Amino acid sequence: MLKRLEELKQNTLKQLKTVGDSSALRELEGATIGKKGELTTILRSIGTLPAEERKAVGEKANQVKQALAAAIEVREEEIRAQEMAADMQAGAIDVTLPGRPIATGRIHPANQALRDIYDIWAEMGFQVYRSPDVETDDNNFSLLNIPPYHPARDMWDTFHTTEPDVLLRTHTSPGQIRAMQEYAPEPIRVILPGMCYRYEQVTVRSEFQFNQVEGLAVGYNIRMTDLKGTMAAFARRFYGADRQVRFRSSHFPFTEPSIEVDVQCILCDGAGCQVCKYTGWLEIAGAGMVHPVVLKNGGYEPTRFSGFAFGMGTERSIMLKHGVQDIRHFWGNDLRFLEQF
Ligand code: PHE
Repeated sequence: MLKRLEELKQNTLKQLKTVGDSSALRELEGATIGKKGELTTILRSIGTLPAEERKAVGEKANQVKQALAAAIEVREEEIRAQEMAADMQAGAIDVTLPGRPIATGRIHPANQALRDIYDIWAEMGFQVYRSPDVETDDNNFSLLNIPPYHPARDMWDTFHTTEPDVLLRTHTSPGQIRAMQEYAPEPIRVILPGMCYRYEQVTVRSEFQFNQVEGLAVGYNIRMTDLKGTMAAFARRFYGADRQVRFRSSHFPFTEPSIEVDVQCILCDGAGCQVCKYTGWLEIAGAGMVHPVVLKNGGYEPTRFSGFAFGMGTERSIMLKHGVQDIRHFWGNDLRFLEQF
């Protein structure tokens, strides 16, 4: 028995040296001095030994137990220190590495263009007037001199709602009626920006939603020359100081006379390219002198007042300015496109 105890001690001390982590250490402890360990079992069975052996075996067993407990404690400390060092190594932060860049949001190119456009008009005395996206049939059409069933309604493919005579505005022009009705008979100078909706096939050149910026000036002696000068001033501010501008005769039911405003192509300087379809010119706005019927519907006496109005597409302006070939990029949410602005 004494020999077995000595063996147990030597074996355990040897094994302790090779034990590499705390769970293996716990196991070894359990198998020796633990509750069900060999040494504990021996200590318990001492009573069954012949009387003359009991003292020697008891002493030896207790000695071994103390020696092992002390050795295990020492080893435990060592292992804990090793494990902590390993943990710290694994979780170490290299403070010399460059930081990760924080991705910040940015203004959508359409909103950025709107802001640039507001700035230019603000300097010319035009104030932003907000009007709703959901409109009445009257404001969108009838009061703009486009009565029900008039063929001119075909110019705007319309999203109707289930509510009779309530629709999504097809252009920002209904805002003219709202602004005039609010301010008449005071002279006004406003721009009316916002989203417009058309029940149209989505293609490279047309979306079913897009921003427009409408302009309206009503006063006592406003003439076609004022419209032309104002549009030219805007075009040169927005597209470049040396741009040529031209006006073509056109037709809108709510303006008379009506014009279309063209700017010399920015990409080819008028030489002719794919974007301007080899004409050298880009169409930037529809415009005209406010029709007397519309002035009257807005609350102005057409014999005393006159005015001009214009409307331009925001996304279209960006496309022209930057040579963007596909209008669907604007609402496609592809960051590769959006981050270029
Ligand atoms: N509302 C017209 C359109 O969307 C543009 C326009 C506005 C033309 C104001 C003349 C005057 O086509």
